[in-house]
Amino acid sequence: MSFYVTLKSRRAEIESRYRALTPASARLAAAAAEVLPGGSTRDTVQRHPHPPYVRGGSGGHVVDADDRALVDLWFNATTLPLGHADPRVAAAVAPWLTHGSAFYAPTGLEIDLAREILRRLPSAERVRFTNSGTEAVMLAARVARAFTGRPVVAKFEGSYHGSWDDVAWSVGSGDGPPDAPVPAPATGGLTGHAGRVLVLPYNDLDVAARLLARHAQSIAALLVEPIANRMGLVQPKPGFLAGLRDLCDRHGILLVFDEVISFRLGYHGAQGLAGVTPDLTTLGKLIGGGFPVGAMAGRAEILAVTEPGRPDRVSHAGTFTGNPVTMAAGKATLDAWTPDVISRLNAEGERVRGALRRALAGLPFQVSGAGSLFKICATPRPIVDQRTSEEADAEWEEIASLALLNEGFLLTTRLHGCLSTATAEADVDRFVDAVARLVRG
Ligand SMILES: Cc1ncc(COP(=O)(O)O)c(C=O)c1O
Repeated sequence: MSFYVTLKSRRAEIESRYRALTPASARLAAAAAEVLPGGSTRDTVQRHPHPPYVRGGSGGHVVDADDRALVDLWFNATTLPLGHADPRVAAAVAPWLTHGSAFYAPTGLEIDLAREILRRLPSAERVRFTNSGTEAVMLAARVARAFTGRPVVAKFEGSYHGSWDDVAWSVGSGDGPPDAPVPAPATGGLTGHAGRVLVLPYNDLDVAARLLARHAQSIAALLVEPIANRMGLVQPKPGFLAGLRDLCDRHGILLVFDEVISFRLGYHGAQGLAGVTPDLTTLGKLIGGGFPVGAMAGRAEILAVTEPGRPDRVSHAGTFTGNPVTMAAGKATLDAWTPDVISRLNAEGERVRGALRRALAGLPFQVSGAGSLFKICATPRPIVDQRTSEEADAEWEEIASLALLNEGFLLTTRLHGCLSTATAEADVDRFVDAVARLVRG
């Protein structure tokens, strides 16, 4: 589409301005390349020509290596709902930095955080902590396989569920006919999907019904994001999640909501808003208050497969699992993450999406998202699944993201954003103005 050409033709100019603004980051990126392959140890923070290296953060801002204060609009991938260095979280963590931060024994803090999570998730009676969302998904798959005695995990095309082989299929791209997708490897190094993974198109209940029925006897779990982040913060169509619940009941498949991101949408997570009860829920990000975390929660009967003394019990360990620093930070964060706070931030999210829609009116864009999440999508067509997501002009989004970084706003390279309670309204307004200037030339 010709509209996008204008900004794309400015790529060299935008990049050279970025280089001029970030010489210290450029030096760090060059040093990193001498010790880290490709200069990186984390794919998601890479960007061309180099990422901004960060020196610190406070509230709604981070400061980069060149002493630029950036308005943070992604908060380490939605992990910091209260913003950076929140004093309540810092105070909860501080004692453990002087009293010891990791023990070969549990602390009571894991009970407190578990109680807090279970209070919020009516679908869950038990929880097990992990060190990341990826590990939570790995554990959910293992538990579901053990509980059902079936081998296959079904997932949706376009969904990212972490950096693990069985879910690293059809993440950024689809393959095969749209109504009979074929798993597409999302990384090198995979050894195959046969007998382990089934891929379904998001938001198509008829196809899900057909494919799940065909493979029902071998499917242990159906993994679904209640808001599909990588696809473009795509929302499930009305009735989609409830329809999946029915299909799983019919075929004896465990329904797993991956709420690693979507838990922030409501006090009871996205499941509370949708009114649908999953068998298992995977969590991460904000429940650790900015420290490494994950969790898998669900019915006691299912999590019982991890209990000692059972034949064929599912084992699950982790040196830092349940560590007091993360548990204390998570509890302090959730204590401040009250229904009132959540609904105020969601209202601010609604305001941002509305303002962006007005700024982009008449132009070939979609503004997606829910709650405190938003995304600008460079496509004239609404995104409902992976295939429509691929119609978005990823190159335009990436250049726009760099141009916005030049203006002092940090989002993903695909223009995902999120708010924290520390985000200033004035910063949001300046961001919307910057977007308006970008698209109106
Ligand atoms: C929906 C979802 N599941 C799982 C993960 C993996 O979490 P982590 O990066 O903590 O391993 C992510 C990470 O972005 C995610 O968005």
